[in-house]
Amino acid sequence: MYQLIYISEKTQNFELEDIPRILYSARLNNDLLNVTGILLDLSEHFIQVLEGNQKDVESTFTKISGDSRHCNIRCIYKQPTINQEFGNWSMGFSPDLNQDVLQDAIHIANMFAQKQHLTDIQIDSLRLLLKSLNPEPEIL
Ligand SMILES: Cc1cc2nc3c(=O)[nH]c(=O)nc-3n(C[C@H](O)[C@H](O)[C@H](O)COP(=O)(O)O)c2cc1C
Repeated sequence: MYQLIYISEKTQNFELEDIPRILYSARLNNDLLNVTGILLDLSEHFIQVLEGNQKDVESTFTKISGDSRHCNIRCIYKQPTINQEFGNWSMGFSPDLNQDVLQDAIHIANMFAQKQHLTDIQIDSLRLLLKSLNPEPEIL
């Protein structure tokens, strides 16, 4: 198993109506590959976690990176993992996630997303924050 996290900036090509389109193809394609994760829709950025087989995660990321609806795509984390932390989501989306922590998480994620460079501690904090957004108990 492998996990990849990236931050990107929305471009002028992105419009609100794209969200259902993105989720539709993400869920369809990711399901076929057993790629899971979450997508945070921030005011000007996206943060996405992708996890699954390394090959599938990397090919999915390469495809997403070519999408003109976002730019300045920075992969901030890619590492092997023991289990899929978001195994219950082919692609979880902000409104589906843990509402108890969502508002605070979005606020903090927005601050991290503004930065071009994150320290290791900030990346670890962001990972913990993203993990807390999963409303389901982890599938072990
Ligand atoms: C922020 C963002 C996240 C996306 N996430 C995924 C994803 O997880 N999986 C995926 O297949 N496509 C994702 N896409 C869409 C792809 O870039 C691409 O449009 C889509 O996979 C094409 O699907 P199709 O080949 O079925 O037409 C994302 C696009 C954006 C802008």
